[in-house]
Amino acid sequence: MSGTVRVTEVGPRDGLQNERAQVPVADKVAFVNALIAAGFPEVEVTSFVSPKWVPQLADGAEVMRQATRRAGTVLSALVPNERGLQSALEARVDKVSVFASASEGFSQRNVNASIAECLARLLPVVQQARAAGLPVRGYVSCVVRCPFDGVVSPAAVRSVSERLLAMGCTEIDLGDTIGAAEVPDIDHLLDGMQPLLQPSDITLHLHDTRGMAAACVERALLRGVRSFDSSAAGLGGCPYAPGAPGNLATETLLSTLERLGFTHGVQADAVAAAGSAMRHTLARIQRDSGGKS
Ligand code: HMG
Ligand code: MG
Repeated sequence: MSGTVRVTEVGPRDGLQNERAQVPVADKVAFVNALIAAGFPEVEVTSFVSPKWVPQLADGAEVMRQATRRAGTVLSALVPNERGLQSALEARVDKVSVFASASEGFSQRNVNASIAECLARLLPVVQQARAAGLPVRGYVSCVVRCPFDGVVSPAAVRSVSERLLAMGCTEIDLGDTIGAAEVPDIDHLLDGMQPLLQPSDITLHLHDTRGMAAACVERALLRGVRSFDSSAAGLGGCPYAPGAPGNLATETLLSTLERLGFTHGVQADAVAAAGSAMRHTLARIQRDSGGKS
């Protein structure tokens, strides 16, 4: 196998959103800027969701403002509704990510709405983002298993993906939110997306709960997937998905790609340094709070 793989770094958003200890803006900016300098084609910098739901990312506008823009790195942010889009546009994001779930249980817990209500809410978001000239990533969460509803069918994943594409999303990103996927699940998932999307059109977003993510990446590469998300130092998870401790670590993804002969254009040592600095920051905050956060 050979070729080039697109790696989107989601640590500043999907990584930090799961940390209870409030990380100062300066540390977030240093993390984001180190990741941008490492050469990723895309960094998901923050989200513009309700601060009542994710207090950690309430400072998204300030982090975006202080991010050092670099030609070749798209700065994206997650938005749940029109209000979030407005904030994202004001913060001059290059790309917007919207998110819906393939399972009803997670949809209710994550966005306080059914799948249908969530998709209806996203329609004007996607339309307005596209009208503003921005590409839009459409995440589908819980594509293998839901922490509340159990097994999720590939048909449910395809159906939500179809709706996101129809409303104007330019990319579909399939999220194994709780890291439940085993290697055969990757085949079922990709087979289930036929004929809507080929593997080469799909981004895969894996969590590494049970240490299976690298094996799943390998299988997905064999099937033709060429775009993955990952988080420096494996930070993160979703606060509304019990059992989702960490994202696939970028360090693991990059070394898996290199071992299999793929190029990615990212400086692995710079990613390791950025991830390690953020781990130290989190430990410092924990220590300073006397272990209360
Ligand atoms: P709600 O409580 O049903 O709706 O939340 P609301 O409209 O009543 O909003 C509650 C309060 O938040 C109100 O404030 C709003 O004004 C405010 P109040 O009037 O009470 O003072 N508000 C906002 N403030 C700033 N920016 C906004 C915004 N929207 C409302 N955009 C809502 C509904 C969707 C807003 C909420 O449920 C929410 O924000 N959910 C996001 C949860 C989240 O971020 N989860 C993690 C990301 S998804 C994920 O991690 C999975 C992924 O990684 C892929 C994978 O792993 O599979 C993407
Ligand atoms: Mg995630």
